[in-house]
Amino acid sequence: MRGAVFECAVRTTCSLTTDEVGRVTSSAPLSVSSVDRLQMARDAFHVPVLESEVLSYFVTVGDGVVVDATLGGGGHAEALLRAIPGVRLLGIDRDPEAREASRRRLEPYGSRVRVIDATFADLRDVREREADFIGAAPVRGILMDLGVSSHQLDDGRRGFSLRVDAPLDMRMDPSTGIDAASVIAQIDEESLRALLARHGEGRFARAIAASIVTRRPRTTFELIDAVERVVPPAHRRRGHVATRTFQALRVLVNDEEFQLREGLAAALDVLDLDGVLVVIAYHSGEDRVVKDVLAEAASGGCRCPVELGCVCGAVHRVSVVKASAMMASPDEVARNPRSRSARLRVARKIVP
Ligand SMILES: C[S@@+](CC[C@H](N)C(=O)[O-])C[C@H]1O[C@@H](n2cnc3c(N)ncnc32)[C@H](O)[C@@H]1O
Repeated sequence: MRGAVFECAVRTTCSLTTDEVGRVTSSAPLSVSSVDRLQMARDAFHVPVLESEVLSYFVTVGDGVVVDATLGGGGHAEALLRAIPGVRLLGIDRDPEAREASRRRLEPYGSRVRVIDATFADLRDVREREADFIGAAPVRGILMDLGVSSHQLDDGRRGFSLRVDAPLDMRMDPSTGIDAASVIAQIDEESLRALLARHGEGRFARAIAASIVTRRPRTTFELIDAVERVVPPAHRRRGHVATRTFQALRVLVNDEEFQLREGLAAALDVLDLDGVLVVIAYHSGEDRVVKDVLAEAASGGCRCPVELGCVCGAVHRVSVVKASAMMASPDEVARNPRSRSARLRVARKIVP
């Protein structure tokens, strides 16, 4: 993990598995120590980022359905259900472990919650498929908290972690798609170089791509070794030397670039009038896509001079609630280092 505070929280709770979260949840009445254990287990799964900022955009939406399109450990979802008694929540995650953890955590909210297996690129289909849950209720808000959860990053078996030697899998949904080791076994050097360059590897993208293609690593530590061999210590940035390579491969394995563009477009279609779309991104490429897609939906492609106002008939589908991205306070970053890179953007749908 990315920093001392969370490292410490994880280490003190690492013996609690998802199973134990469920067991602690169902033991009633809870003693103080089991409440503490439950909170610690939840925090070990994932500490929700920018929680009060997210809530501030949802509390005004009114009764209806909100979609948490990236449930993770269910932290944001639970906060939404607690803060807004008039909403029901449709929760989506492509990771079966996240769905299981969230189902248990959100059990006390009964029929107000439905947790389903889908990706956010499928949001239009989901709206039709889950018509019995949504009914005639308006979709008031959609949350997309992108990337991977702390649980996915820290679980040594999944191949996301730089700290544990494991087969390179990296699939958020391990039941589908191609794992990272197979991608690495097949990818050509130029495609890999371009991918690494897009993820900020800059001048070392070519050397790292060549090293990976020569060695075709199958485990996390073999991949780290392939990167370390070609990036001299004097040129290493803050953080782990292989972080960007891991991130680039994870994005490729999970088709995250397609998922993000499709997911944003689908979310804007699925939202009802006055509904809010809240998106949290964790790297600059991802945030740029969010910013551009929302700006395009706000302008409708209109290029009329500001002095004239819009005379071209473009449809301005959303209003962007804040021009610049919102970031975590220093206090939150100190409590949860993962929040350091978070960028939150919000848009409100202004046409049906
Ligand atoms: C940052 S975590 C969300 C954490 C959550 N907000 C919480 O409070 O615990 C991101 C989650 O989104 C899921 N995810 C990522 N991309 C997805 C996609 N395209 N469709 C559905 N789920 C996705 C991941 O499996 C992961 O569990």
